[in-house]
Amino acid sequence: MEKKIAIIGAGISGLLACKHILEKGFSPIVFEARSGIGGVWSQTIESTKLQIPKKMYQFSDFAWPPSVTETFPDDEQVMEYIKAYAVHFNILPRIRFNCKVTCIDYVVPGNEDFPSWDLWGGIGWPFSPTGRWNVTVQDARDPAAPVEVYQLDFVILCIGKYSDLPNIPDFPLNSGPEVFNGKVLHSMDYAAMANDCAAELVTNKRVTIIGFQKSAVDIAAEVAERNGVDHPCTLIFRTVHWIVPDYFIALTFKSLNRFTEFMVHKPDQGFFIWLLVILLSPLLWIFSKLVEAYLKRKQPLKKYNMVPEHGFLKQISSCMFTVLPANFYDKVEEGSLVLKKSESFKFCKNGLVIDSEETPIATDIVIFATGYKSDEKLKNIFQTSYFQKCITESLAPFYRECIHPHIPQLAILGYADSPAFLYTTEMRSKWLAHFLAGKFKLPTIGEMEADVKKWEKCMKYYANESYKRSCISVLLQIYCNDQICKDMGFNPRRKKWLLAELFAPYCPDDYKYLCWQT
Ligand SMILES: Cc1cc2nc3c(=O)[nH]c(=O)nc-3n(C[C@H](O)[C@H](O)[C@H](O)COP(=O)(O)OP(=O)(O)OC[C@H]3O[C@@H](n4cnc5c(N)ncnc54)[C@H](O)[C@@H]3O)c2cc1C
Ligand SMILES: NC(=O)c1ccc[n+]([C@@H]2O[C@H](COP(=O)([O-])OP(=O)(O)OC[C@H]3O[C@@H](n4cnc5c(N)ncnc54)[C@H](OP(=O)(O)O)[C@@H]3O)[C@@H](O)[C@H]2O)c1
Repeated sequence: MEKKIAIIGAGISGLLACKHILEKGFSPIVFEARSGIGGVWSQTIESTKLQIPKKMYQFSDFAWPPSVTETFPDDEQVMEYIKAYAVHFNILPRIRFNCKVTCIDYVVPGNEDFPSWDLWGGIGWPFSPTGRWNVTVQDARDPAAPVEVYQLDFVILCIGKYSDLPNIPDFPLNSGPEVFNGKVLHSMDYAAMANDCAAELVTNKRVTIIGFQKSAVDIAAEVAERNGVDHPCTLIFRTVHWIVPDYFIALTFKSLNRFTEFMVHKPDQGFFIWLLVILLSPLLWIFSKLVEAYLKRKQPLKKYNMVPEHGFLKQISSCMFTVLPANFYDKVEEGSLVLKKSESFKFCKNGLVIDSEETPIATDIVIFATGYKSDEKLKNIFQTSYFQKCITESLAPFYRECIHPHIPQLAILGYADSPAFLYTTEMRSKWLAHFLAGKFKLPTIGEMEADVKKWEKCMKYYANESYKRSCISVLLQIYCNDQICKDMGFNPRRKKWLLAELFAPYCPDDYKYLCWQT
């Protein structure tokens, strides 16, 4: 009997999952809460561009059109590219728009004690003979309408790590937004506004933005550009991060090859590899220090007390790549952008009070660019506390970055952070499609847990407390891809020559033919 598969979400992850599963002969249903595809790319601020070169943000079997000549395409070009992909691979008819999945529940008949299984789903294959997921779907346009419940053999969660559930800090009583006379919103709400409405909202207003990652610096640069020195924009943050020029990201990607991976500890390394890493890793340290010195020379970091306390290596190992908006420090220099570092802050009637200053920062609008509650969003979709607990207690990352050892017949795509998100997720989609097609079996639950623990240790070594961002693929992208290729039964060495194998960077193009070699 044909297996029923649901994909939840039609952002990049959902589209990738759908394309690769269709190719294996399945007929998935995609539930999408919004009225269109593209997820985060469908609601961005005006100045949004790809942060990485388009060659690294490319579907392996669907190149960017020749009309896109820019190395870093803008949000509209990215959306056009995503739409063209969905049309080309006939994904759109599979999608049910305005269908929000409110919860999913795993049901096994009788008294089967699935938490005690040794093998995933009881058998280690994707489809258990007995277990099913009940997926409850609500009409997103009419939440009062009766819900529909679908019985499915496999669920792929592609609900997005950076969308829908904003992270807004908690404040003690009488110190939060409730005492403030101005307007408070999250970067997600600002991005969702039409460009002219967003411009109208901030023009000639005193705007304060909280955070110092991509959303924060982009919005700050946009507001400072619009309002100039008459109404300077203030950026309040607790951690200074290394933010780099765009050409620098392109250069970093060019230097990530097999040779550089010899400098990085791996979860399964033997003595010889360990020794090699010990001998070569000083090069990685030197690279990190050189980058720091370069950035300190290029940007007035010392002048504005903006030298991060952590090293550049930790920054990239934590997957915190942020490209510096154009003329960012020029705006600081001219006074249209004011930078204020503060561990904490509170609201007052007319604005915000930060640690080091008694006088409030007078403000009309506060924008929280403080990220998202990704884990809570993932947890909330499960009906039972057993699976919710699996998510809250889960070690980052999942097995092969998409399978939770204790959640059967379900995969999660798009929760593995990566500087080249599309590339990373496409590799996992190919792996997942092969798994669903029965090309390989999963190891035992115990073995998967042990693997996850090893990765966790490895990530903690490089990223310390930031390891939860689940970013195993920056310094070990090729190593991870090798594991995926081996599971699927393909040769992981994709280059023609030994020197290229060692020193040339890998990109999505190298894995173009994986899905056809069945
Ligand atoms: C502004 C911005 C720019 C970015 N730029 C880059 C970049 O340059 N390089 C890079 O590598 N990454 C970038 N990223 C990271 C980005 O998150 C990924 O590249 C990618 O687009 C995420 O895709 P996704 O499908 O996993 O998630 P999303 O795009 O968040 O899509 C999730 C989809 O699931 C739907 N959904 C959620 N819950 C439900 C539900 N319960 N029922 C039904 N549908 C649901 C949502 O409506 C949404 O359409 C950027 C992110 C943002 C916010
Ligand atoms: N290509 C693009 O143009 C683009 C644009 C936007 C976003 N993105 C991507 O989207 C993802 C999300 O980015 P994001 O910037 O929205 O979120 P983010 O990377 O999670 O950054 C959140 C920021 O908020 C701060 N923060 C969180 N909680 C706080 C608190 N309680 N008090 C004060 N500050 C707090 C964090 O500070 P700490 O560092 O101190 O924790 C950090 O500076 C990233 O992958 C990013 O690369 C890309």
